[in-house]
Amino acid sequence: MRFLVVGGGGREHAIADRLRRDAPDAEILAAPGNPGMAGIAECVPIDALDLEALAALAEERLIDLAVVGPEVPLAAGIVDLFQARGLPIFGPLRAAARLESSKAFAKRLMREVGVPTAGFGIFTEAGQAGAHIEDLAPPIVVKASGLAAGKGVIICGTAAEASRTVGEILDGGRFGDAGREVVIEEYLEGEELSVFFITDGERAIPLVSARDHKRLLEGDRGPNTGGMGAFAPVAEVESGLVDRVQRSVAEPVLEALAASGSPYRGFLYVGLVMTADGPKVLEFNCRLGDPEAQVVLPLTRAALVEPMLAIARGEGLSDWRPPAPDAFALVTVLASGGYPDTYRTGMEVLIPAGLESDSLRIYHAGTASRDGRLVTAGGRVLGVTGIGNSLEQARTLSQTAAEAIQFEGKHWRRDIGS
Ligand code: AMP
Ligand code: GLY
Repeated sequence: MRFLVVGGGGREHAIADRLRRDAPDAEILAAPGNPGMAGIAECVPIDALDLEALAALAEERLIDLAVVGPEVPLAAGIVDLFQARGLPIFGPLRAAARLESSKAFAKRLMREVGVPTAGFGIFTEAGQAGAHIEDLAPPIVVKASGLAAGKGVIICGTAAEASRTVGEILDGGRFGDAGREVVIEEYLEGEELSVFFITDGERAIPLVSARDHKRLLEGDRGPNTGGMGAFAPVAEVESGLVDRVQRSVAEPVLEALAASGSPYRGFLYVGLVMTADGPKVLEFNCRLGDPEAQVVLPLTRAALVEPMLAIARGEGLSDWRPPAPDAFALVTVLASGGYPDTYRTGMEVLIPAGLESDSLRIYHAGTASRDGRLVTAGGRVLGVTGIGNSLEQARTLSQTAAEAIQFEGKHWRRDIGS
């Protein structure tokens, strides 16, 4: 078997790690990969957005399965291109990936099939948006409809701020093309939960659910980030909740997409808020979460290769279902000082020898090799996942390692999972 993992962050490292465990004899290529993945995969310096070059690589190296980590190549149509060339790939087609790449599309679809979500309006014209905002009570959530690397959501404390923000997006080009449409939403109060499914377009099979910590600072303060840490499984997820999300969210959405001629295959990420009125959908993503993948994949107690291959071939999942997790995992993200705004790169990263084990995984998110040294190359540098018999044990493992790893400007949250 020969696999290709597209991407080079912590999620893609966790995917490669999972494939390596599922298929110890397989050859794994990663494009572009990262220095951490280089230990288990052959890294090929092709950007995750260079779709032509990726397809040529898959063709040349006779790849049996390509797995795409990030949303941007999915939204750009990597699956469409591979399928047109007869190359096996796991992930949604571009039209189906609109569930993430167009928040306006996702919201309209949710309204059509009756999925509980925040009340909303969709606008392309600032004057109309302003009139709508006057009727709303703050906080008011303003979102660029398109992909904005996790920065496209602004929570506004006043109507004036919301109107100004809409103007910046629609008229000021703040998010470029991603901001040609805005979604204005009701603010949802409650704990967030990320529920992951693997789907063949019809059936949605739940994987482990996780909780991400998006705020930069301890106590859930500071700006939103891509995620500063996550843990799984989430204790308050009564067993019935995931089944309910499967039946009342995932399946109706999949059915509607299939009926419209865009069947959705791949991983489906349902972001929920547990409001006083019950769970409501915050967003869909067309991929696994990052850092959530760094706890979900180590806890998944079944090989993912078989279902991924089946889905890539256009076959069904039949009765595939992984057993419930029998451990806890917690990932602490080590970020560069300054993240999520500007940060320095090129700081040497020192990881003590022997730190990694079956219960302590180090996933590279933003690192590079320079003159034989490991250096920082991104805002989120490493994800340190502890795996234990309790959440407490997983946290202790993760934090002890987070403490031991050194680089200048290292910033991390000590309150993940508490
Ligand atoms: P999104 O890109 O839609 O996932 O939004 C990023 C983050 O913004 C979410 O994880 C939430 O923390 C926050 N957020 C987005 N929409 C809302 C909302 N309607 N109410 C409250 N918080 C929100
Ligand atoms: N951690 C949030 C995301 O992957 O979208």
